[in-house]
Amino acid sequence: MTEVDYKARIESLSAELNKHLHAYHVEDAPTIPDAEYDKLFVELQKLEEAHPQFALPDSPTKRVGAAPLPQFDQVTHTVPMLSLNNGFTDEDIENFDRRVREGLDAVAAVEYAAEVKYDGLAINLRYENGLLVQAATRGDGYTGEDVTANIRTIRTIPLRLLTATPPAVLDVRGEVLMFKSDFEAMNARQREAGQKEFVNPRNAAAGSLRQLDSRITASRNLSFFAYGVGALEGAEMPLSHSALLDWYRTMGLPVAKEGAVVRGYDGLMAYYKQIGEARPTMPYEIDGVVYKANLLQDQRTLGFVSRAPRFALAHKFPAEEALTTVLAIEVQVGRTGAITPVARLASVFVGGVNVTNATLHNEDEVRRKDVRIGDTVIVRRAGDVIPEVLSVVLERRLSPEPEAYVLPKTCPVCGSHVVREEGEAIARCSGGLFCSAQRKEAIRHFAGRRMMDIEGLGDRYIDNLVEHGQVQRVADLYALKLEDLLEMKRLADEREGTTPETVAQGKIATKWADNLLEAIAASKNPPLERMLFALGIRHVGESTAKTLAEWLGRFDLIRRVPAALLRVLPDIGGIVAESIADFFAEPKNQEAIDALLAAGVAPAGEHPPSAKLREKLDTVKLMAALGIPKLTEPRSKQLVEQEVTLEVLAHLPVFTVFGLPAGVAEALETWMAEPGHREQLIALDQLRKDLLAQLPEQAAEGPLTGKTFVLTGTLPNLSRDQAGAMIEAQGGKVSGSVSKKTHYLVAGADAGSKLAKAQELEVTILDEAGLLALLEAS
Ligand code: IVH
Repeated sequence: MTEVDYKARIESLSAELNKHLHAYHVEDAPTIPDAEYDKLFVELQKLEEAHPQFALPDSPTKRVGAAPLPQFDQVTHTVPMLSLNNGFTDEDIENFDRRVREGLDAVAAVEYAAEVKYDGLAINLRYENGLLVQAATRGDGYTGEDVTANIRTIRTIPLRLLTATPPAVLDVRGEVLMFKSDFEAMNARQREAGQKEFVNPRNAAAGSLRQLDSRITASRNLSFFAYGVGALEGAEMPLSHSALLDWYRTMGLPVAKEGAVVRGYDGLMAYYKQIGEARPTMPYEIDGVVYKANLLQDQRTLGFVSRAPRFALAHKFPAEEALTTVLAIEVQVGRTGAITPVARLASVFVGGVNVTNATLHNEDEVRRKDVRIGDTVIVRRAGDVIPEVLSVVLERRLSPEPEAYVLPKTCPVCGSHVVREEGEAIARCSGGLFCSAQRKEAIRHFAGRRMMDIEGLGDRYIDNLVEHGQVQRVADLYALKLEDLLEMKRLADEREGTTPETVAQGKIATKWADNLLEAIAASKNPPLERMLFALGIRHVGESTAKTLAEWLGRFDLIRRVPAALLRVLPDIGGIVAESIADFFAEPKNQEAIDALLAAGVAPAGEHPPSAKLREKLDTVKLMAALGIPKLTEPRSKQLVEQEVTLEVLAHLPVFTVFGLPAGVAEALETWMAEPGHREQLIALDQLRKDLLAQLPEQAAEGPLTGKTFVLTGTLPNLSRDQAGAMIEAQGGKVSGSVSKKTHYLVAGADAGSKLAKAQELEVTILDEAGLLALLEAS
């Protein structure tokens, strides 16, 4: 580069960074990710250092934050609010710790206060004689904005310190932020009101704090955590950072619970790891951790370099947002036909991995964000969450402008129509199992680790087996023979041009195929709940599958159970109940299940329905669960009290004679007039009677009545459901947790905390044999 080039680059960088700064600080609507900003900033800083003659007077390197806004009064900080140096790599931390030790002439490991780095905005709270008198933003570090009225709306900030002896002056430094849940709620409200949404909680917090009308700030639910001190008069400065925070706590100031005192480099790294793991589940966003020499004496000895303390360091997490370009927008077809638009991206390192695809969620989201092919976008990958496109950098859109994206009208895999039902965000391929994409996904789900657990049946094999027609539905997996697998592999290698040398020479590897066949055979007897989960019924996850298995016990019952009976089970609502009943009402699904059973698949651990079911088979409850509009539990009760059972109801010609409000009687009449509804009632009544006849006798009358059991660990022969059913059959109760009221703990292999707790409480502990003996004796 020539001198002229350097000058031009410095000017263009300054202009671009100033524009971003304005968007960020004044409009609370950032145009590029922080990491990208930092990169450009560092480039400018280096260029200015090497060529100071070209540095502009308004260079962004000459300020820490933004200039104060004219709308707010200015406040000069008594003690400037400086910034922290950043570290990213292990080496950065090693260097920091070394410099601290050298600066202190320390022989032993240094004591550090470690805390989280809040992703909010810095604030100074001035208390005079215990009263909050002023709150100011950091501004450029020396002068900030007076936001007292707005800060007063933050409920966790004390307006008066909780102490009889407050200092004359105390500047509490800390961070204002918005909890993730408050952010989601606020954006939902903005969306409803047709107003702009904020990109992240920090910008939402900043935007909320800068409201001229503090009633708006009050409605935004901001939070605050203290982490430092400015001016202090009329009290001794605490002798360590941890003592300062303890003092704050006693005065009612909010201090986060994550802080810790650690020693040396190892202590710092362990803290970083621990917080990194906790980060996804923390209620607010953090972008790293902060280390501070704990002792005030050490802090004073180390002092400051330019604008940052030498005694502290921010250890940042890898950036979760980055810039890249959209190469194409494609759609993926899921197991239930859901069509998800996906952006194919120029590979970018973000959140610790290289990302090449990011979800665009659904049609409305693509439209709202207006993502187009060729656009520069901000992608985000937080924790293990699927990467997503956050927003488009509109200034960088190509010209002429690429066309707005529209979702295809037909499925790109099978050509069936794409339909989007009213009120649904998701569009779906209408091809069902005719669509090979849906078939592949259904098989992938079926074979998954938490379902049938077929080891070695990877995505590529599934794709090939479906594409070569060897597997049409899941039951076909169990009919696969060695030749089928070898043929599949041969075709795939041929197509991909990856036929190994050895195969070309006539030597065919078969071990992998033998292993796969073995794994398929070994998957034939999964626990009932896993088999239910594997079927891929919409809305049936692991926990619903478990509820079904636990309460109903047998697959042949579950596959013919009506929605009303499902709806009375715990945690199964109307939508889930309908979805399960719809699935089993579909003849193709029943055929697929018959084929599975015929192939020798049989769930393990089946047992009679749980004794607890008796209470749920109450006529009033079932009647209210029929889904007849307006027929609530009290109304059903009114009917049952007049001897209207399910069976009677099924045959009633008129509904106006029971003293029901006209609307209810009318709703009943309409429902009963629908074809099939009376038959449904008769069937439900019959099933109810069958079940009652099968259920173990009334729990209250068994020999184990009044005894509470807890089951833990893996028993050698019985499943937990089976053991539970046996206990309940004799009147015992099974509970989920050990307490003083527990009579017996039945413990199998790998029993954990429940066993320890039972030992502590001196609860009688039984193994499987002990339980069987007890059941036998009683
Ligand atoms: S101490 C002398 N502690 O990071 C520096 N700052 O880059 C005093 N921040 O403006 C800052 N969490 O907004 C400190 N636990 C923490 C922090 C923290 C977040 C922010 C703060 C400051 C910036 C410094």
